[in-house]
Amino acid sequence: MSENLVAHLQSVDAEYRSTLKNQRPVVIWLTGLSGAGKSSIANALELALCNVGRHTYLLDGDNIRLGLCQDLGFSDIDRVENIRRISEVSKLFIDAGLIVITAFISPFMRDRALARDVIGESAFIEVFVDTPLDECERRDPKGLYKKVRNGLIKNFTGIDSAYEPPVSPQIRINTLEDDLETAVKRILDFLREWPIT
Ligand code: ADX
Repeated sequence: MSENLVAHLQSVDAEYRSTLKNQRPVVIWLTGLSGAGKSSIANALELALCNVGRHTYLLDGDNIRLGLCQDLGFSDIDRVENIRRISEVSKLFIDAGLIVITAFISPFMRDRALARDVIGESAFIEVFVDTPLDECERRDPKGLYKKVRNGLIKNFTGIDSAYEPPVSPQIRINTLEDDLETAVKRILDFLREWPIT
């Protein structure tokens, strides 16, 4: 099909949009187990950025799965497709000049590498929200681990579906040591140093 498609040159480009917004677009890609704290960090980070006048967009697993990805489940194939779509949407938002925060388990290393490729190395910051499984299960904010243990959910990440931790994320947040405020500050501090050419 794609041999009959021709990309249309647009007068307003990524640079124009980001210049208007006076910011360098970037994707802050949070990865970690269910219950690790990704959504809480993402939410607090977006608020902190907006409070200083940044233009942002937050893509959060549960919310996106209620809309754009409502046709997808939790098989390996569906998770791969979920992350592929999020990568492409993030790329569009980068083009729009936004600071994008994503909060998805994104369990597979290969898919996170693909996301980095699609979005571009210089606009991709991987943040590992590193909370051990037993702590996620202890917190169990949505009661899902309880359901898993009662046999009500299958293919659950960390239990009977794999999680491949990042080997060299730009930022690693240990939620046993860092509280929410510290976690957000660490990401903001990193962003301040980030512009690489
Ligand atoms: S991902 O693996 O494709 O990246 P995503 O982040 O979109 O997952 O969705 C994870 C959320 O879906 C979890 O936070 C949890 O609330 C819910 N969920 C429901 N079933 C599962 C499951 N089998 N494994 C993991 N998360 C699940």
